Amino acid sequence: METMLYQLNFKRGQHIKPVTTVATEAARKFFIETYGCQMNVHDTEKAAAVLSGMGYQQVAAADDADLVLLNTCMVREKPQQKVYSRVGDLKNRGRRSKKKPSVKPAPIIGVMGCVAQAEAEKIFKKAPDVKLVIGTHSISSLPELIGQIDSGFPRAIDIRQTKEAEFLEIAPSDHQTPNLAFITIIEGCDNFCSFCIVPFTRGRERSRSAKRILEEAQGLVERGYYEIQLLGQNVNSYRGSFEGIEDATLVRADKSAFVILLELMAKYSGAARIKYTTSHPRDFNEQIVEVMDQYNNLCPWVHLPAQSGSTRVLGLMRREYTREDYLSKVAAIKNAKRDISITGDMIVGYPGETDADFEETLSLVREVEYDGLYMFKYSPRPNTHAAKRKDNVAEEVKSERLIRLQEVQAEVQKSRFARYLGREVEVLVEGTAAKGEGSLTGHTPCNKVVNFAAPNSLIGKLARVKITATTPNSLLGELINA
Ligand code: SAH
Ligand code: SF4
Ligand code: F3S
Repeated sequence: METMLYQLNFKRGQHIKPVTTVATEAARKFFIETYGCQMNVHDTEKAAAVLSGMGYQQVAAADDADLVLLNTCMVREKPQQKVYSRVGDLKNRGRRSKKKPSVKPAPIIGVMGCVAQAEAEKIFKKAPDVKLVIGTHSISSLPELIGQIDSGFPRAIDIRQTKEAEFLEIAPSDHQTPNLAFITIIEGCDNFCSFCIVPFTRGRERSRSAKRILEEAQGLVERGYYEIQLLGQNVNSYRGSFEGIEDATLVRADKSAFVILLELMAKYSGAARIKYTTSHPRDFNEQIVEVMDQYNNLCPWVHLPAQSGSTRVLGLMRREYTREDYLSKVAAIKNAKRDISITGDMIVGYPGETDADFEETLSLVREVEYDGLYMFKYSPRPNTHAAKRKDNVAEEVKSERLIRLQEVQAEVQKSRFARYLGREVEVLVEGTAAKGEGSLTGHTPCNKVVNFAAPNSLIGKLARVKITATTPNSLLGELINA
């Protein structure tokens, strides 16, 4: 039985590296390189499950694989371009290895994920070495597509869009991320925020049934997972069926489906930690805060991307909330009984963003006091509404704004992190820290990275750690006990 583990201390946009693997000689071998968000990480697990079912074996390096899939992201221009440079590296493999005694042919290269869905056949033109294009709804077609290549077709593509609630479901044993597991609750997005490509790459919104979600979670807990992360582009608009859920006290008309799902998971999944991402500020409500206050295993962390602090820009972005609406949701979170961390995403340089608009973004960041913030320069995306507007904020201005925003967030974060000094936190130990032998890393329930010295035997366990120092993006501590 082969295993492949992912390093979990990844950031959005980084690719996930397999760290261990064992494979036998005979079987065909595959490697999947993952870009983008958690949905893609989870899709990689799904594709790996399908390929393993075909008898393929997973390996830890593209160099050892007969089939390399690039699981791609298109949310900004940079990750999109990365795909083509990676195809270049991979196709050169055959040529490079001619110097070596055993000549290794170039692998079959496939592109899956968001670029595959959006660019479709164009990929074959731009990168003729790509043989397979697998859209975001087509992972289950991998056997068919590979079969076409095997029987001599030069290329194979499937970019169909599923209309009804059709999900590729995997067994708990197919999850590959150590310690924490991702579960899809809702796929796609119907919001069409003016800047965003995701509705084009992930299709229309569709929710999984609550019973299936709960059963998957229970199976994962049985396998020893402590933490479950519920995934969706907009989890708050979850609308799945509650058929087969027996607890009638939970399923009530006066509660939103997402709130019912959270309570169901808190009460019956058995998971020590439940997190969810991403929330949309328009759909986030006080009931969510109330249920988080009620159940300790609902982790005290909300990722609530504002995108801008200016009501005028939010209107142009079609986000359907104002600065004041956003701040009222934040106030509800801050009024909770528990200390709930808030993180977010922010875009600078949206077409038409003035200095005054940008100042409002800075003041919002100061007012909210984010525990973490992903900050991006606006990047025009094909087919989006915003791409039809002139990208009229100069590149230098975007860069300046990004730096100023990063400076303000760094100040905010420093003072937010200081409140942890001397506190004891629970850390789910995910692996060794990037620097230093004997140094471990993991996340708190409020999703902060904590690094501390302890033996490697603690990896995969929960540890109690006392925070002794802070760095710009993490907390440092001493082990109290496991
Ligand atoms: N569903 C999530 C976002 C998914 S994309 C949500 O609604 O919040 C992740 C983040 O990428 C977004 O929150 C946004 O901040 C950023 N992003 C999306 N499109 C972008 C673009 N065209 N340019 C720059 N940043 C973008
Ligand atoms: Fe994109 Fe908006 Fe949907 Fe998020 S809610 S995925 S930003 S369209
Ligand atoms: Fe990227 Fe697609 Fe996720 S565009 S951010 S991988 S949904």
